[in-house]
Amino acid sequence: MLLKKSADIKSSEITPKNLYLNRRRFLAGTAIAGAAALAGLELGEAVSPSTVAHANTKIEGLQKSPFSTTEKITPYKDVTTYNNYYEFSTDKDGPSRLAGNFKTRPWNVTIDGLVQKKQVLDVDSIIKMAPAEERIYRHRCVEGWSIVVPWVGFSLSELIKRAQPTSKAKFVEFTTLLDMKQMPGQRRDVLQWPYVEGLRMDEAMHPLALLCFGMYGEALPNQDGAPLRLVVPWKYGFKSAKAIVRIRFTDSQPRNTWNISAPTEYGFYSNVNPNVDHPRWSQAKERRLGEFFKRPTLMFNGYDQVASLYSGMDLKKNF
Ligand code: MTE
Repeated sequence: MLLKKSADIKSSEITPKNLYLNRRRFLAGTAIAGAAALAGLELGEAVSPSTVAHANTKIEGLQKSPFSTTEKITPYKDVTTYNNYYEFSTDKDGPSRLAGNFKTRPWNVTIDGLVQKKQVLDVDSIIKMAPAEERIYRHRCVEGWSIVVPWVGFSLSELIKRAQPTSKAKFVEFTTLLDMKQMPGQRRDVLQWPYVEGLRMDEAMHPLALLCFGMYGEALPNQDGAPLRLVVPWKYGFKSAKAIVRIRFTDSQPRNTWNISAPTEYGFYSNVNPNVDHPRWSQAKERRLGEFFKRPTLMFNGYDQVASLYSGMDLKKNF
């Protein structure tokens, strides 16, 4: 992002070099005992285990979502080999080359801050918390490329409701794993680590905000944010933190990594907005991975149902 001088992406850059899929098995249950001991509490009733990713990484029993677009889905190969994931690399094909052995089990997520149910949860117990849906979303990177992906997950609000935020909680902060042994990009100072993102509480509660653990009917590949990430489709891609280990509820606006790194370029809100240019390039158009011609970028990435969250706000100031 910061390193890119232009939104233009040559189609040659997009051509995948190698497809490194993480076919590692989901070690169902291995860590649950440990996490349950730590947690002592359950955020909610587990639903049918058929909604959980099993051995061959297929996720069964997916429900369809009314939020899905009918637009053409971007090829899996492009979505899994053209990634932004600075913990591994600043090259687009770096994460798919370097994240193959990334360990996503056991994996705990700390829920803390201004909530009644502070706890540490095993990621598999989070995945079981609510029925898994397939949501086909447009996803727009601040650099000017976009993808259409059948993500798998459920609304972040499902987890938030179970955590029972107190009335003082106004924001939610998401933190990515800090582990420079596994994530070679963290050995460099390109960003302040760990990667942190945040949403205002009403944004986080909006049903479109997706807590995501799969795509294309399977568990998330490591390079796309396994085992747990956000997908906030009306915001630029950098708001959608990958490999989440902590969800903290706060009364003040969290400082997000890209804003710390370049405050004049990356705001806290970062709603997709064709009328607000990035200081170094226009945001009026975008190129779908795998396509040649650019298309106009839509306000809120076409998700008009979120507009009311920002009524009365100056979205040029709050970029
Ligand atoms: N999350 C972490 N932890 N580290 C990152 O570098 N990059 C962000 C976002 N989440 C990033 C991250 C950016 S800039 C984008 S565009 C999306 O992830 C890309 O998601 P994708 O690689 O699955 O398309």
